[in-house]
Amino acid sequence: MLSPRQLEIVKSTMPALAQHGEEITRIFYANLLGENPQLMSQFNVDDQKSGEQPKRLAQSILAYVANLDRLENLGPAVEKIAHRHVQTHVTPEQYPLVGQYLLQAMKIVLGDAITPEVLEAWTAAYQQLADVMIAREKEIYAEKPALA
Ligand code: HEM
Repeated sequence: MLSPRQLEIVKSTMPALAQHGEEITRIFYANLLGENPQLMSQFNVDDQKSGEQPKRLAQSILAYVANLDRLENLGPAVEKIAHRHVQTHVTPEQYPLVGQYLLQAMKIVLGDAITPEVLEAWTAAYQQLADVMIAREKEIYAEKPALA
């Protein structure tokens, strides 16, 4: 659980994310896949070229931040992403790496606005969403063992 203070900090970054979300996610993908080319086969390369995929990820992060204190509102979004993740064989072990590149991209784009306190609050927020996604994906994998 995020503390009330962490919740407030994460929400205070919303305007900056709304403005720079796509740039953050573009840098995130370029660095994640550039430095971990083994992940490339999981991602649809055409969607990245068209800019669609960074856009979808940016939107999902914003929706998440807007609903951080009402996670139940995320149900339909989590469901859709979780199914896509299972289709593309995303594993729980991949979440820390993705979180690391996401926070690093936020730091690159937003610079000094990402103070240690903001970074800590966002780390907790990412972890909370990752826990929700991993739990749902585990259920879907269990229903469809052939995909694991
Ligand atoms: C909390 C963290 C994450 C969020 C919020 C997130 C969000 C998303 C979203 C919004 C999509 C697009 C779904 C759609 O088709 O509409 C997606 C797809 C995808 N995600 Fe994630 N994701 C997360 C973690 C991860 C992790 C850890 C991996 C591991 C490599 C991953 C790999 C993928 C892949 C491979 C796709 C499909 C991409 C494609 O169609 O080319 N995601 N994710």
